[in-house]
Amino acid sequence: MTSVKSVKITEVGPRDGLQNEKALIGTGTKLDFIHKLADAGLKYIEVTSFVHPKAVPQLSDALEVVRGLQPRAGVHYSALVPNLKGLERALESGIREIAVFTAASNSFTQNNINMTIQESFAAFKPVVEKALQEGLWVRGYISTAFYCPFEGKIKHESVLEVCQRLLEMGVHELSIGDTIGQAVPDDVRTTMTALLKALPLEKMAMHFHDTNGLAIENVQASLDLGLSSFDSSAGGLGGCPYAPGASGNLSTDALVHYLHAQGIETGIDASKLADASASILRVLKNTDDLVSDIGNLQYLGTPDCPPIHPSA
Ligand code: HMG
Ligand code: MG
Repeated sequence: MTSVKSVKITEVGPRDGLQNEKALIGTGTKLDFIHKLADAGLKYIEVTSFVHPKAVPQLSDALEVVRGLQPRAGVHYSALVPNLKGLERALESGIREIAVFTAASNSFTQNNINMTIQESFAAFKPVVEKALQEGLWVRGYISTAFYCPFEGKIKHESVLEVCQRLLEMGVHELSIGDTIGQAVPDDVRTTMTALLKALPLEKMAMHFHDTNGLAIENVQASLDLGLSSFDSSAGGLGGCPYAPGASGNLSTDALVHYLHAQGIETGIDASKLADASASILRVLKNTDDLVSDIGNLQYLGTPDCPPIHPSA
């Protein structure tokens, strides 16, 4: 049994979800999805990513997405930032919360961001420094915290070292990623028990992918340790284009249902959330049909949302 009474949910569908879809979704459709999520009571929404537009063309309209956001009381919008160039673009957009991302395995960081873990620290240090100077809130992701698609099982000592480096830089929150959804509850208990001996519980979030259908059980293992901040994705969208085997994120719908059934508060209206999830799943179902019909990447913008082409 857990003593956790309420949970913070960070909705990552518009970023982690859409980054892995074959089709390019129009900016207007993304904004509609994000605002439906806010209407459902989600207070923390990761809306896009200022990575290289060629690396993730699905999110190449990051600037337009952020500029189209409606400010809502108590709603925090955030975006991924990989380097100083990404921070420059994020600042230009006006977003006030960002996330930097590295990993606990070298082969994954190399594949994902073209850097070793050490190089990623060197790259993120000035990013975090500048972001903090600008008064931004900063999250740090640690991918492959349990298993790496290239290196297998990851030692908790490696995860701890990365977490400590990020906290020393001044990040406000750490998100511990089961990037390819291979962790089982015992892995969560072992790694997180070790990490929580050295790291502040209130700064830790858990980011589960649901490849093996165990994400909810991993949430329970986390709740049992007192962890109360979870990332999830409406409709279970998601994955990582640079992690072979990464499937959808833990579904926000399933997470909310599971927490509410135990009397744990989330502040989310499950039926409005279902509407938000259904709306994006409908669009993706149609685009999937179109992509497989044509066998190619298609831009599905609306007349008021002109296509955004990768600029570099
Ligand atoms: P790179 O090619 O090594 O970058 O990419 P570079 O520094 O060598 O620069 C090359 C060119 O790219 C330069 O242009 C830069 O200006 C430009 P040139 O001078 O040749 O004209 N450039 C950029 N342009 C726009 N925006 C930028 C940017 N940076 C450089 N930000 C880089 C390195 C990190 C940028 C690239 O590898 C990249 O964008 N990777 C994206 C990886 C990604 O998005 N992965 C998915 C997100 S992580 C994830 O999903 C895991 C998570 O969910 C947690 C979990 O599940 O575990 C968070
Ligand atoms: Mg992820």
